[in-house]
Amino acid sequence: MHAVFVFIVTLALLVLASVACPSTRRRRIHAQNYPGLTDQDILQEGKPATFVTPGQTYRIATGSTVVLPCRVTPAGAYVLAWKRGIAVLTAGPVKVTPDKRVRLLQSPVSTSSLTGIPELSGEGYSLELKDVRPQDAGDYVCQIGTMEPREITHTLEILVPPRIHYVSHSGPLEVLQGATVKMECRASGNPVPTVAWTRKNNVLPSGERSVSGLSLVIQHADRHSAGQYQCSADNGVGQPDTRHITLNVLYGPEVETERSTVHTGIGLEAQLVCIVHAEPSPQVLWFKDTAQLGTTEQHAAHARGNRYTLVIRNVTSADFGNYSCVASNSHGKGRGQLTLTGTAGLAVFDSPPLGTEKDTYNISWSVNSHAAITEYRLFYRQQPHHHHGHHQELIFNNSKMIYRNDWNSVVLPGAGVTNLQIPLPPPFPGVTRQKMWYTVRSLHPSTTYEARVQARNQHGWNKLSPIFHFTTRSNDMENMVEPSAQPAVYGISQQGMAPFSSGVREKLSSAFSLIVVLVVHLF
Ligand SMILES: *[C@@H]1O[C@H](CO)[C@@H](O)[C@H](O)[C@H]1NC(C)=O
Ligand SMILES: *[C@@H]1O[C@H](CO)[C@@H](O)[C@H](O)[C@H]1NC(C)=O
Ligand SMILES: *[C@@H]1O[C@H](CO)[C@@H](O)[C@H](O)[C@H]1NC(C)=O
Ligand SMILES: *[C@@H]1O[C@H](CO)[C@@H](O)[C@H](O)[C@H]1NC(C)=O
Repeated sequence: MHAVFVFIVTLALLVLASVACPSTRRRRIHAQNYPGLTDQDILQEGKPATFVTPGQTYRIATGSTVVLPCRVTPAGAYVLAWKRGIAVLTAGPVKVTPDKRVRLLQSPVSTSSLTGIPELSGEGYSLELKDVRPQDAGDYVCQIGTMEPREITHTLEILVPPRIHYVSHSGPLEVLQGATVKMECRASGNPVPTVAWTRKNNVLPSGERSVSGLSLVIQHADRHSAGQYQCSADNGVGQPDTRHITLNVLYGPEVETERSTVHTGIGLEAQLVCIVHAEPSPQVLWFKDTAQLGTTEQHAAHARGNRYTLVIRNVTSADFGNYSCVASNSHGKGRGQLTLTGTAGLAVFDSPPLGTEKDTYNISWSVNSHAAITEYRLFYRQQPHHHHGHHQELIFNNSKMIYRNDWNSVVLPGAGVTNLQIPLPPPFPGVTRQKMWYTVRSLHPSTTYEARVQARNQHGWNKLSPIFHFTTRSNDMENMVEPSAQPAVYGISQQGMAPFSSGVREKLSSAFSLIVVLVVHLF
């Protein structure tokens, strides 16, 4: 009531004053504030009042300050008022609204006379609004208090930073493996924010870095989909708003072994390792055959992350055999099978695939074995011609080997441990590399042979090695055209050689074929 009264009285007084003696008021104002200006700058009698500043739309972020300009020319002759709807904010120099955020910025004379910018001529009567809020949005009218009111209208749009006001899951989200997961975030703001989904330190299950949309759907959740997800709302105003959702996927143990066969030796320490993925964390038990292993002087079980290790200290021959790790949680059970053996690892050939002699070849290999190798078995034969596309392989029957009669076999006594002083680093601690070579005789020139080798130590025979191919040196050119040289003439059929069979070519690696072709061309 008081404010309205003050306003009416003030308005009445001001209107009276300006009507009664306008020039006096103008002169008084100017004389006080801009003594350098002459009356010629000011007195423009007879001209109607016009707005120098047009009505505009202002987009302002909440919390910031806006100045709504209102400038009238000629200066000083009129009473100005700011209104919002029917509410009067200011009347003349008097602030009517009790809102502390509102301030009138009055400059009684043109700053343009001083700065030389004609657009800013006239009397300034700007409205400052501090700390703007969403409810401040709307039209602001600057009105001239003449008999026929004139006005300009500024429209204020309030930009509101994004705010997420709904998240589908506030705590951690737990689902069963295979479930479909839907996460949702809703956000408000002006303009309407866009919501995007990302994942902490990872791509989304779809493989994308980020997807936009109010919800994120994960089909068939598995352990790879578990983790922390983030929804982020952004509308370009202020900082984006983000929320986190932690997804836990519950599933039964998935067990892998680090190495299914572990080669060791008497007196060594052996480690059997199972990698177990499970949620919640599994209980892991170790078995040798069917007997559960407890922690003893001889055995110790460790877990580190998802790596479960059974340590067997001071291995004896009784420790060799089949082990299993059995992992279980409330969602299931998983098992890993491992074999601890004292036999040698697979033989690895290290002689060059291309021999230097026509009828002999020095084949060499090595095996890793803690115990000394007592015996080797070398098998070799001319590489079969696969005319009918049949593969001739060694056949195993109840771990007894039946080899076709075209395999030559040589039994060789072990050469003893050559470098027992240099044990290998993990994963074969204490295991030594044992080398062997043998000169194969009575071979055909330019012929490819295949060989396999097996080694025996005090713990038995190891597994037969994979096939190794070697080729004897070619004869002179005139001999090379003999049909017997067929297997070695790969790739040179354009020189009049018998065409090679596709089966033979398949068996060779392309790199090896290349070497053969190169060498044949050299000779
Ligand atoms: C390993 O076991 C053997 C026989 O059981 C024993 O003689 C030897 O002292 C043990 N070695 C270690 C390091 O425990
Ligand atoms: C270990 O298991 C394999 C089959 O996985 C079997 O052939 C072998 O006889 C088993 N060894 C022992 C010592 O039980
Ligand atoms: C065969 O090769 C091995 C290793 O490359 C070498 O030590 C050995 O002396 C060779 N034997 C002959 C007879 O050349
Ligand atoms: C495996 O050996 C058994 C007898 O030891 C024999 O009856 C069977 O035919 C053999 N199988 C093959 C595929 O040679």
